[in-house]
Amino acid sequence: MIIRSEKPSDIEAITEVIKVAFEDHSFSEQTEHFIICDLRTAGALSISLVAEVHGRVVGHIAFSPVTISDGTTNWYGLGPVSVLPEYQGGRIGTAMIDKGITSLKSMGGKGCVIIGLPAYFNRFGFKNYRKLVHEGIPQEVFAAKSFAAWVPNGKVEYHEAFKKLSAIEKDAIADVIIDYCIEGIKLDSGNPVIESLIKKEVIAETIDGKFVMRLSALAKYDSYLGQIAQFRVAEMGRVHKNPILAAIHHGTDA
Ligand SMILES: CC(C)(COP(=O)(O)OP(=O)(O)OC[C@H]1O[C@@H](n2cnc3c(N)ncnc32)[C@H](O)[C@@H]1OP(=O)(O)O)[C@@H](O)C(=O)NCCC(=O)NCCS
Repeated sequence: MIIRSEKPSDIEAITEVIKVAFEDHSFSEQTEHFIICDLRTAGALSISLVAEVHGRVVGHIAFSPVTISDGTTNWYGLGPVSVLPEYQGGRIGTAMIDKGITSLKSMGGKGCVIIGLPAYFNRFGFKNYRKLVHEGIPQEVFAAKSFAAWVPNGKVEYHEAFKKLSAIEKDAIADVIIDYCIEGIKLDSGNPVIESLIKKEVIAETIDGKFVMRLSALAKYDSYLGQIAQFRVAEMGRVHKNPILAAIHHGTDA
């Protein structure tokens, strides 16, 4: 087995390894391979190593820069790390993490954080520090390894690529938007911005004086959310056989 930096010709294989490794994991939203692509595009894939066995990419690990609210620099986030299921348990994960950490140190890295299972990551010297936190992440699965004698205090943030919405989150937003499209809200029709939005057919006034967003406009601004919202409204109309909903759908999308 060899551990080496990724090459452009590895990209497809890396995507496949990540997808398969996270496939059946309940904690995963199966967006890890998108994160890697976005990090790569943003030039934020600081370290990207593959494990190769008989010429085949069977493992991958990524490190990307994090920010810390106390101003500490040169810290990185480890992850995701993936090994093809049939190769798991063969120390490939260990080899990639060890090599990654060595590379981080040699490029001037001062420390590394991880979101993951303590049962796995603690063996690499990651520890939980009360004063180094990540908002929204339970403290017990957020750990750090400092390469210096001290550990920063503050809130850690991963690169933007980790904050993209997953399909599940987009679905949830579509639900909110549907409510907005159907229920409507009160707006000041005299406001020039509102007037302009009416003219541009983004929003429409209903008979009860509320304003609803037109699904067609939503589709224009975000095709994914627009399509989901249109599909959901059509489905709700079908499932509930609700003539009012159907009428609203017709009205908002006309
Ligand atoms: C986690 C993962 C990268 C580990 O790679 P691996 O090559 O299978 O791990 P290793 O063979 O190096 O494991 C070393 C040790 O950790 C243990 N270990 C492996 N995965 C573990 C897990 N999920 N939880 C607890 N311990 C684990 C092994 O049993 C082994 O223990 P030992 O030293 O007592 O024998 C791999 O299992 C994987 O791709 N999992 C799916 C994706 C994932 O969960 N990634 C981590 C979150 S980013």
